[in-house]
Amino acid sequence: MDQMPNQPKHVALIPAAGSGSRMGSATPKQYAPLAGRPLIEHAVHTLCRHPRIDQVFVVLAPGDRDFAACDWRCCGDKLMPLYCGGETRAASVFNGLLAANDAIDGNDWVLVHDAARPCLTAADIDRLLAALKDSEVGGLLAVPVADTLKRANAEGEVLQTVAREQLWRAQTPQMFRYRVLIEALRRADIAAVTDEASAVEQTGARPLLVGGSTGNFKVTYPEDLALAELVLQQFHGKR
Ligand code: CTP
Ligand code: MG
Repeated sequence: MDQMPNQPKHVALIPAAGSGSRMGSATPKQYAPLAGRPLIEHAVHTLCRHPRIDQVFVVLAPGDRDFAACDWRCCGDKLMPLYCGGETRAASVFNGLLAANDAIDGNDWVLVHDAARPCLTAADIDRLLAALKDSEVGGLLAVPVADTLKRANAEGEVLQTVAREQLWRAQTPQMFRYRVLIEALRRADIAAVTDEASAVEQTGARPLLVGGSTGNFKVTYPEDLALAELVLQQFHGKR
């Protein structure tokens, strides 16, 4: 890859060790069929094909048998599976960062991306890299909250309307320097961490929000598959 000397690498790390319980199917959602291929192939192919991404690690559940059966021919030697998934997403990310340690320098960028976000585009990656080019810490793709927000009580009655100004929905990739991210996760209460940025925030650093696309949503429930298929057809021209 066209690596300038002393330029930081861009390494993707894809947590894919979840069970997809909210999807309610026997196979984990990352292997659900989507637009003619297993869901996980979409984001992994997009990251592997991106010229600025040097290596792609995928964190899998120990004993995963489905990954090896997917079509990784377009990924070449950029792709590296790591069978070290943990109990939670954050544990999978942390285990993956430790397992990939020898291939990453402290100053390199790590882009953590959910396998369950298949509609990531090369343009999303370009925007993130461009916005964080001069950052010491890093940041994440996110979209401003568009709906009016309500805070409710346990009975589902509205108590309050919450001002949505300056509220964003965090997406992935979340991109941080390797040393910043691994230190933040080491110090964080891993059970309470739902994204990389929240661990980095706890160190006092301020990750930058980079405008993402609403199409880059996380497939969580069965009905999300049809929506993801439409997005892939429209924006990627894929089958
Ligand atoms: N993930 C992981 N290790 C875990 C849990 C989740 O690597 N122990 C991954 C998932 O495979 C997914 C991403 O983190 O790509 C986002 O997590 P989520 O959407 O919550 O997926 P699941 O945990 O699999 O789904 P659910 O919460 O419905 O069980
Ligand atoms: Mg989960």
